[in-house]
Amino acid sequence: MNTLQQIEQLLLPIWNKLYKKDKENIPKSFIKLMTYIIPKYKDANFDTFIWKLKKRGIITALRTVQIDLIEFGILSINEEESLGVLIDLFNNDSSKNNLYTTGQFIGYGAHSYVFRLREYKNLVIKIPFNEFNFDEENINAKAILEKELEIGNILKKIGISVPRYLGVFQVKFPEYFDKTIEREVKRSKIIPYFLWKPLKKNAGKIRWGLIMEFIEKDLTLVSTKRLEYLYRNELKKVLTMGINNVDAYMDHNVLWSRKNAKIYFIDFESWVIPKKFLQK
Ligand SMILES: Nc1ncnc2c1ncn2[C@@H]1O[C@H](COP(=O)(O)OP(=O)(O)O)[C@@H](O)[C@H]1O
Ligand SMILES: [Mg+2]
Repeated sequence: MNTLQQIEQLLLPIWNKLYKKDKENIPKSFIKLMTYIIPKYKDANFDTFIWKLKKRGIITALRTVQIDLIEFGILSINEEESLGVLIDLFNNDSSKNNLYTTGQFIGYGAHSYVFRLREYKNLVIKIPFNEFNFDEENINAKAILEKELEIGNILKKIGISVPRYLGVFQVKFPEYFDKTIEREVKRSKIIPYFLWKPLKKNAGKIRWGLIMEFIEKDLTLVSTKRLEYLYRNELKKVLTMGINNVDAYMDHNVLWSRKNAKIYFIDFESWVIPKKFLQK
């Protein structure tokens, strides 16, 4: 999925909701975007139309819509940040001078490290590393992440709770990353020594990552019973869809958001998705 399709995916539900509920209060710029640029918005088919504008025209239109949606108080914080990042990314596409940077360390799994984006605290980036050598990126990082993005978007579409995904992009580790990660490790003992020592060498490097919504994870804030109930409900949905090999357990590859009172599945590497969902 390209950046523009990601933007489309973000804007369409917002448009549909406004159109149904609050037609009078839709910002003019948004109507213009949806009707002039995208005459057939009702077919949910605006990608082909939006492309007819020159790139700079699209960016101007999107920026205006972005400002109006924020001023009208239509976007949630998360939507606001997602839209901002997507328009920036669309604007910069292949330019390396304007990359986002990694921020606070969030967690790690068997293959990857997850950081907040320094520029947008409600978004995280997952970066896969060489499993034997954490100062090197996994050579298949981009392909692995695109697979995860594809599965994540399919799951979202069929109603399974997953974070919002923005896409696979390059990001930069700040030059001072070695110092900040050392400080974080000392303060919170969040990563074992043998992991962060080589990780430090990524300072200043550019890596592929999957940008997604940050889900606060604090399993201690919820009763085990309630969590079990939510987890079983969500898992039932997954299994009913014929999806197999789900490696999500209550304390692994499942995130819990107290704010949204919801659990989220992440990390679908070993999930087996039936073919019918893979054909778009
Ligand atoms: N969207 C997210 N929001 C908050 N924390 C996350 C998010 N995605 C991943 N994490 C944290 O990072 C850890 C590693 O991510 P995961 O996708 O499971 O990587 P791996 O493929 O290496 O197992 C997770 O266990 C979780 O603690
Ligand atoms: Mg994992």
